[in-house]
Amino acid sequence: MKLLIALTLLLGMIYCRSASARVAVEDFDNIRLFTLTNKHGLTVKVTNYGAIITSIIMPDRDGQMADVALGYDRVEDYMNAVDKPYLGAIVGRYGNRIARGQFTIGETTYQLAVNNGPNHLHGGIIGFDKVAWDAQPLEGDGECGLQLSYLSQDGEEGYPGNLKVTVTYTLTDTNQLRVDYLATTDKPTHVNLTQHTYFNLKGEGKGDILDHHLTLNAKQFTPVDEGLIPTGELREVAGTPFDFTSAKPIGRDIGQDDQQLQFGGGYDHNFVLAGGDPQDGLPLAARVYEPGSGRVLTIHTSEPGVQFYCGNFLDGRLTGKAGRPYVHRGGFCLETQHYPNSPNQANFPSTLLQPGAEYRTTTTFSFSTD
Ligand code: GLA
Repeated sequence: MKLLIALTLLLGMIYCRSASARVAVEDFDNIRLFTLTNKHGLTVKVTNYGAIITSIIMPDRDGQMADVALGYDRVEDYMNAVDKPYLGAIVGRYGNRIARGQFTIGETTYQLAVNNGPNHLHGGIIGFDKVAWDAQPLEGDGECGLQLSYLSQDGEEGYPGNLKVTVTYTLTDTNQLRVDYLATTDKPTHVNLTQHTYFNLKGEGKGDILDHHLTLNAKQFTPVDEGLIPTGELREVAGTPFDFTSAKPIGRDIGQDDQQLQFGGGYDHNFVLAGGDPQDGLPLAARVYEPGSGRVLTIHTSEPGVQFYCGNFLDGRLTGKAGRPYVHRGGFCLETQHYPNSPNQANFPSTLLQPGAEYRTTTTFSFSTD
């Protein structure tokens, strides 16, 4: 069937008004694949299945291109993959965990789908990563993009309220991928949207990411219990393996005898972003540098937290686009977000969205070399 059509089948190109930033569209049955290209040749591929980023191709310090985003060649691999680890997807209605899949708004307690031990994870059984979104290519001056929309029905996965969601990916000629999130609801509900791309700045499938140098703009993190639910404490990172306030290889302290690292199987924790001076309107969240290639990923966000997950559940069973296995810790995610289980933690920034209000957040991914 048509779903077997490889992502490489090119049907047409839609050019943006700018000199060279453009969007190409490929058929994927009712699922489509869009290629955003900027004037430097940086390309980002996005499918409207799960609003998934399937590929990000960027140069190294010598101009050698590599695909730095983990993913698959065919849409059915996203649908059928072992454990479906959310490669590249937009995650929602609530990214990360909600304890026992329950929260109370006013007098009503809602029971969500439970899909991670006793807890709710990443929107439930059929979250936003597993649905078809409406997609509209965008044209702009020096940028191009894709606007993706989805209506999450009242009751879907147990959540109250019809939630209208729009996620816009914009690729600029300044080598930045901007992700703008917008949502509105007709009943009070909880929303926490994030982007779940796994990066390997050496190139997808090229071993693990333990030698990447990570800086996080975070002086605190939210420690968790065995089920990865935050305890409610905001703990200082100073003097712990969680201190990434200056650049440090991801693997340097990951083997330390530390209860939090044991619970996560490595890093799988939410960091409390410190804010500070905004760049292009947004404070810094993270910077990752890969010494071999010189590739740099810098992330800015309006969100108060970021989940740093270093691919602890990857185990070599998934095979990537170049036919290479995704080994243990073969990619890292930096999921900008509100903190996990916020609906049940009064001291965490609120994720409650009321009718008449707008949920608006922005995260940027900037690609450069050093
Ligand atoms: C998030 C979670 C991890 C894991 C991955 C997907 O990062 O925090 O525990 O579920 O998604 O595999």
